[in-house]
Amino acid sequence: MYFHLILYSTILGMMSFMAAAQQGVEVYEKACHTCHAAGVNGAPKKGDRISWRKRLEKKSMPVFIEHVQKGFKAMPPQGRCFDCSAQDIQAAIEWMMQDDKLFKKANQA
Ligand code: HEC
Repeated sequence: MYFHLILYSTILGMMSFMAAAQQGVEVYEKACHTCHAAGVNGAPKKGDRISWRKRLEKKSMPVFIEHVQKGFKAMPPQGRCFDCSAQDIQAAIEWMMQDDKLFKKANQA
């Protein structure tokens, strides 16, 4: 019985992880990649840990989310994802960082 409980919660945990990751990919593919794949106008590139780490020296996840929602320098409001919630934006940012350690750091501050 106890074993089943553990198994069940592990599967649930995996499912929620997969759902979050997929959502990040989706948001990235439909909106963010136009600028964040090639680094248009200095946009931090997907998987470019060094530029993300630099931004994390001064900012954290809530600031990132606000900057995406309101627009920031050359980035348009919502990063052009108009049906994106704050959670969707966060998932896309996590996807772009491609690094659990950076994502944890972003959420610590
Ligand atoms: C039209 C181009 C464009 C699109 C689309 C875009 N971005 Fe950006 N983004 C930028 C640029 C340019 C910067 C760098 C701004 C600067 O620091 O000068 C940036 C910076 C950021 C930053 C760092 C902000 C900070 O405070 O340092 C985050 C986080 C981000 N983008 C997330 C996203 C997400 C998530 C999406 C998709 C929902 C997205 N962007 C879509 C151009 C874009």
